[in-house]
Amino acid sequence: MNAVEVNHLRRIFTPTVGVIRRQKKEVVAVNDISFDVRPGELFGLLGPNGAGKTTTTKMLTTLLIPTSGNAYILGMDVVEQAEALRSRIGFIFGGERGLYWRLTAEQNLRYFASLYNVDPSVAKTRIPYVLELVGLKDRANEKIEGYSRGMKQRLHIARTLLHNPEILFLDEPTIGLDPVGARELRAIVRTLQAEKKTILLTTHYMLEADELCQRIAVINHGRIIALDTPEGLKKNVSDLSVIELDVAGILPDTLDKIKAQPGIETVSVEDHDQKQTMVIHSPRGSEAVPDLMNCLMGLKIGKVIVREPTLEDAYVRLVEGEV
Ligand SMILES: Nc1ncnc2c1ncn2[C@@H]1O[C@H](COP(=O)(O)OP(=O)(O)OP(=O)(O)O)[C@@H](O)[C@H]1O
Ligand SMILES: [Mg+2]
Repeated sequence: MNAVEVNHLRRIFTPTVGVIRRQKKEVVAVNDISFDVRPGELFGLLGPNGAGKTTTTKMLTTLLIPTSGNAYILGMDVVEQAEALRSRIGFIFGGERGLYWRLTAEQNLRYFASLYNVDPSVAKTRIPYVLELVGLKDRANEKIEGYSRGMKQRLHIARTLLHNPEILFLDEPTIGLDPVGARELRAIVRTLQAEKKTILLTTHYMLEADELCQRIAVINHGRIIALDTPEGLKKNVSDLSVIELDVAGILPDTLDKIKAQPGIETVSVEDHDQKQTMVIHSPRGSEAVPDLMNCLMGLKIGKVIVREPTLEDAYVRLVEGEV
């Protein structure tokens, strides 16, 4: 039996728009999605803002009712058996509030354990266990108003582990965390995976998805546009090389000139602290570099790198190919 089974799931929202002439508008947030997650698998959901990832996650965690289609978690129907299912799943949504700032981490967990009907004798051993698992054992008796964002996020994970759920839905767990905080959180996700939990992870960080996920579904405009292992997704761009050029003072027509060169697929500019980096996808690889240099005549050029495509490059091609 699959841990998650999703069949033709759809969700339409009908918000009211307009101030004077109020009208109902249809937003198809999730449009006929089907996929399975195996027991113990760490499955990723990737996709641009508004693609339908959170809406999908909310339907799978019984927080939203699907418009049509169905989904089974641990063999249980997310609509018909929602109540019973809730005690077997855990979820966190990134940037979530809902912890009590004036209480310590330990007191917060005690409160949530009673809310989730965790037997007090079980909670007694479970609370120190989850605090240890998320690395907060030494800070458990401090009020969480003094906690960093990363610590609060880890406490959210601890909270959702109290009832020992078999499957976890983590929607952007590393959002807003600094690189160290994000790394600590990924280590926790790996520990949970080692504990044989099934995990459905939504993230915008490609390195995170590449590092953690066994399979990934890329969602765009409410549909799955690719579903594969990270390696499989990268094969879609195996014909490409990526050229990265640090340049100062890029002008709008510089980009047009570059796009007009032979064999240039995409050009984007990343802004870093002190510099701008042009990222160019081309099947020509280093052969394209002299043409690029001609286009950049007169500009200050720093490092030039020609590298293999990453998951992010595969993602960009998939999503940009769709627009
Ligand atoms: N309660 C709602 N009412 C109306 N529209 C909604 C509602 N919730 C979500 N939507 C719309 O559904 C679409 C999908 O939203 P969703 O939050 O699932 O995207 P997402 O993939 O999680 O995006 P992000 O990466 O920004 O978190 C968007 O167009 C969004 O505006
Ligand atoms: Mg979302």
